[in-house]
Amino acid sequence: MKIWLDTANVDEIRAAARFGVVSGVTTNPSLWAKAASGIEYREVVVEICSVIEGPVSAECVAQDVDGLVEEARSIASWHPNVVVKIPLDETGLEAIHRVSREGIKVNTTLIFQPNQAMLAAEAGATYVSPFVGRLDDIGHDGMAVVRDIVEIFDRYHFSTHVLAASLRHPLHVIQAAKAGAHIATVPYAVLQAMFKHPLTDVGMQKFLEDARKAATVRS
Ligand code: E4P
Repeated sequence: MKIWLDTANVDEIRAAARFGVVSGVTTNPSLWAKAASGIEYREVVVEICSVIEGPVSAECVAQDVDGLVEEARSIASWHPNVVVKIPLDETGLEAIHRVSREGIKVNTTLIFQPNQAMLAAEAGATYVSPFVGRLDDIGHDGMAVVRDIVEIFDRYHFSTHVLAASLRHPLHVIQAAKAGAHIATVPYAVLQAMFKHPLTDVGMQKFLEDARKAATVRS
């Protein structure tokens, strides 16, 4: 399973890039507003593309099909690695179908049930993003949706990638991997939590102390 970063904060993306484990980035208007209000969305996305060599999702906000198609074409022209995010409703589905035929890569966003994912895949989307955390927030089992989508896509040999999104903690990442998601997109804090364990810290401290003791005995 690939790890992508779910942020529009370029400092976080630069820091994470140094680990060599992040192969893509997802953004949305809320993440843009949080990280870089006052800077053009295009500018932020293009800068992210200069840091990460991989797909970078940028979201459309138009409200009608023609508007979404125009916006998708424009966003896709920002950089060859840009993937256009389109939310899955009736309008979005038609737009996904139209722009996918033009070769524009679409990450279908705001997926909350497997039917939405199947429709997006049939329409030609490259990625579907089930939102795990937001389903958990309202008492549903978000990861069950990821599992169902993976099972359906496997059974019918869809080439569309399952991108587990709205992941809130490290356990979500493990569950997404076990569910067979192709990609997990995670906030920077979740990525940091993935490599931390108190026993690692305690163990390192003990090795350090013992190394100092051994060096003192030798000298
Ligand atoms: C990523 O593509 C999504 O926009 C993001 O994971 C949503 O996360 P949230 O539900 O924590 O806002």
